[in-house]
Amino acid sequence: MKDVYTLEDLVSRAHLDSGADQPARIAVLGHPVTHSLSPQLHQPALDATSAGMRYIRLEVEPGNIRTALQKLRELDFVGVNVTVPHKFEALDTCTEIDANARALGAINTILFDGDDTLGFNTDGPGFVRAIHEDFLVDVKDLRIMIIGAGGGAGQAIATQCALEGCQRLILVNRSLGKIQPFSKRLAPYFSSEQLEGPGDRLRILPLDSPELSSESDHIDLIVNATSVGLKRTDPSPLPGSCLQPHHLVYDTIYNPPQTRLLQDASNHGARTANGLSLLLHQGALAFELWFPGTNPLKTMRSALRSAIS
Ligand code: ATR
Repeated sequence: MKDVYTLEDLVSRAHLDSGADQPARIAVLGHPVTHSLSPQLHQPALDATSAGMRYIRLEVEPGNIRTALQKLRELDFVGVNVTVPHKFEALDTCTEIDANARALGAINTILFDGDDTLGFNTDGPGFVRAIHEDFLVDVKDLRIMIIGAGGGAGQAIATQCALEGCQRLILVNRSLGKIQPFSKRLAPYFSSEQLEGPGDRLRILPLDSPELSSESDHIDLIVNATSVGLKRTDPSPLPGSCLQPHHLVYDTIYNPPQTRLLQDASNHGARTANGLSLLLHQGALAFELWFPGTNPLKTMRSALRSAIS
C-alpha cells in the first residue's frame, strides 16, 4: 500500500491492490496530493459502511485528468474527489454537470454512473452548511465580504453566496484584474433591489482600497479565501481597522487553526471560525453522492479531529 499512487499504478486491479486488504474504489486526484486530508476523512466513513473499499490519493499531472478518469472507470471505481489544480479541467470530462457545479464553473466530486461521468461541486453547499453550523445564521440573510475573491476557493464561495441570494456581496482581491470579469458573471444574481440600490448589492474593491474600512461597517460576514495565513508567520490579509465586534469572521484556512486574521478578529470582539467545518461538510456531501442514504457526518467529524490533533 502506498501513501500516494500514480497513473502507472492503474495498470491493473491486481497491481493497484497489491498488499491491501480492500480494493481501492475511491480516490482524490490532485497535484500535489500528498498532503490531502481526504483519505483521513473518508476512510473511517467507508469503514463504517459495509462497502469494504479503500480511499486513495492519486497524483495526476495537469493535462492527464481525462486519462486518469478513464482508467479509474475501467477499474470499477465508484467516484473521485478532484482537488487543486484539476477542478476546472475535470469539468470538461464530465458527461453531466449539476446546476451548482455549472454555476461555479468547477467540480470537486465525480460519480461514475454506467457510461456517464457525473460532476458535482460540494464546496459551495459545504460552505453554506459550515456557516450555519459555526454561526447559526444563513448565508442568504448576510452581507458578505470575501477577501481573495479572485482565487479558486474565493470564486466558488462568492458564486454560492450569489446563488443563495445573499443581501450584499463585496468581492475583494489584491489585483482587480481577476474579479472584474468575475463580478460581471455574478451581476445578474444581484439585479433585484433588496436592502440597497442594485449597484450597491455587489461591489469589487482592491485589497488596498481606502474604502475597505467604511464598507466593512455594513458587512456581517468576512471570509478569508486568500492563501495568506497558511504560514504561521503570515500577517492578516485584512487591516485591523476593518474588524468590528458585530462581525462573523470565517477563515477558509484550518491549518494553522488560528490565523492572524482570526486572532485579530477575536481581539476586536468578533466571532470566528476556521475552515475545518468547510472541509468536513464538503466531504460529507461528496460521500452522500457516492453512497445515497448514508449519514457520514458524525464519523467524519471525529476522524477529522483525530487527524488534525
Ligand atoms: P488559486 O486559488 O486560483 O490557485 P492562489 O494563487 O492560491 O489562487 O491565490 C488565492 C487567492 O489568494 C487570490 O485571490 C490571490 O490574490 P491575486 O488574485 O491578487 O493573486 C490571493 N493572494 C495570494 N497571496 C496573497 C497576498 N500575499 N496578499 C493578498 N492576496 C493574496
